[in-house]
Amino acid sequence: MDLTALIRNRRSVQLYEDRAVPAAVIEELLETAVWAPNHHLTQPWRFVLVQGEGRRIIAEARRVWAEAEAAGLDAERRQQRGEQAYAKTMAVPAILVAVMKEDPQLVVRDEDLVATACVIQNFLLLAEERGLATAVKSYGAAHHAPFRQGLGIAPGERVVVEVQIGYPARTQQGVPRVPIRERLRIVE
Ligand SMILES: Cc1cc2nc3c(=O)[nH]c(=O)nc-3n(C[C@H](O)[C@H](O)[C@H](O)COP(=O)(O)O)c2cc1C
Repeated sequence: MDLTALIRNRRSVQLYEDRAVPAAVIEELLETAVWAPNHHLTQPWRFVLVQGEGRRIIAEARRVWAEAEAAGLDAERRQQRGEQAYAKTMAVPAILVAVMKEDPQLVVRDEDLVATACVIQNFLLLAEERGLATAVKSYGAAHHAPFRQGLGIAPGERVVVEVQIGYPARTQQGVPRVPIRERLRIVE
C-alpha cells in the first residue's frame, strides 16, 4: 500500500483477535518509527512494551482509576466499572506506552512532545502496513502512582500516550475530516 492509502486507511481499532503480537515485530517497527524529526536530536522518547502477564499492571491501575471515577455510584456498580476496565485492558494483546523525558525548559518540552508524536504516527502507519490494528489511548490512570511505579516511569518522565496493538477483529469506518480548504489560509 502506498503512503497516501496508509494514512487514509489507518483507523483506531479496539477489538483484536486473541493472538499475541511478537515483540520482535513491534521492535522492528519502532526502529523505523524513530526516524522522525526532533530538534537538536534530543530523541526524548522511550517506550515500554506491555504484554502477557505484564498487562495486569495496567489493568489493575485502570481498575482502581475506573472505580475512583465512579465514586458517585453504589458499590456494586463501582466494582462493575472497575472490572470492565480490567477486562478491557486484558483483551488488548500488546500495549506500547510512549514515555518522554520532560525537559525543564518549556520550549524544549513542547518540541519534544511534537517529536514524540511524530514517532507515534510513524509507528501507527508502519503497523497498518503490517496488517496490525492500533488505537491511541490517553487516560488519567497513566499519570498516577500505580501505573507509573508499576511500569518504572521515573520522576521527570511523562507518559505521552498508550498505543494498543493487535490483529484486527473488526473494521472501523472513518469519520470524514474537515476539508482542508476550511483550515488552510494561503498568504502570498
Ligand atoms: C493524543 C490522543 C489521545 C487519544 N485518546 C483516546 C482515548 O483515550 N480513548 C479513545 O477511545 N480514543 C483515543 N484517541 C483516538 C481518537 O479518538 C481517534 O484517533 C479519533 O476518533 C479519530 O479516529 P481514527 O483514529 O480512526 O481516525 C486518542 C487519540 C490521540 C491522538
